Amino acid sequence: MRLDKFLREMNIGTRSQVKNYIRQGFVAVNGIPAKSADMKVDENTDKVTFRERPVQFRKYSYYMLNKPAGIVSATTDNTADTVVSLLKDEIHAGELFPVGRLDKDTTGLLLLTNDGELAHRLLSPARHVDKTYQVTLEHPVSRHDIDRLEAGVDIGDEKPTLPARVSVAAEYPDTILLTIHEGRFHQVKRMMLAVGNGVRGLKRISFGKLCLDETLKEGDYRELTPAEIELLKTSISD
Ligand code: URA
Repeated sequence: MRLDKFLREMNIGTRSQVKNYIRQGFVAVNGIPAKSADMKVDENTDKVTFRERPVQFRKYSYYMLNKPAGIVSATTDNTADTVVSLLKDEIHAGELFPVGRLDKDTTGLLLLTNDGELAHRLLSPARHVDKTYQVTLEHPVSRHDIDRLEAGVDIGDEKPTLPARVSVAAEYPDTILLTIHEGRFHQVKRMMLAVGNGVRGLKRISFGKLCLDETLKEGDYRELTPAEIELLKTSISD
């Protein structure tokens, strides 16, 4: 691939930044300062350095976004802003897509990647990857409702939901943490409706073993660490 493309994909900078870096002699290929942005590099065998530090090629990128309300979980939309439009150009946003969907009014953890195979496995209904939501309810939750949610409820689909996990702090009975093992359409809202309650606010706080980084403000995102990528991979049952 072209050297400038390689550097952009590895998040070294924008198109014009990487061109400047090459012109200024900050980039070397196999120990020789690169002369032109369009020179070809083999991403698997050539040793590229930027400011004398090796630039390792990674085929896939993984980001976590703290999704704000009012944004659509898609790559394009005719009327609303999308999660992909929140990303800056330099992270080759064109190739990233959200792993699954959160409703427009839902906030919290959304993964973005270009790793189609991992996304597919994380979303596969057969894999039952856990998702935990902080749910702010219209009414305090009762013991009876918790028992029903934990047993599985009829939400009008062919099958009832799988047993969920519910935890509630005694002092905030209108806010629960709900862990579900599926990803059906509007699942949490429909589960609450099925027990006669309503959702005032919904935030996803974990996906598999990966937790939302609470230091990310709504609308902010960051790359996953190698340990977090591993956590995600080990969240998938065989
Ligand atoms: N369940 C919902 O109802 N909405 C979401 O966005 C996610 C889960």
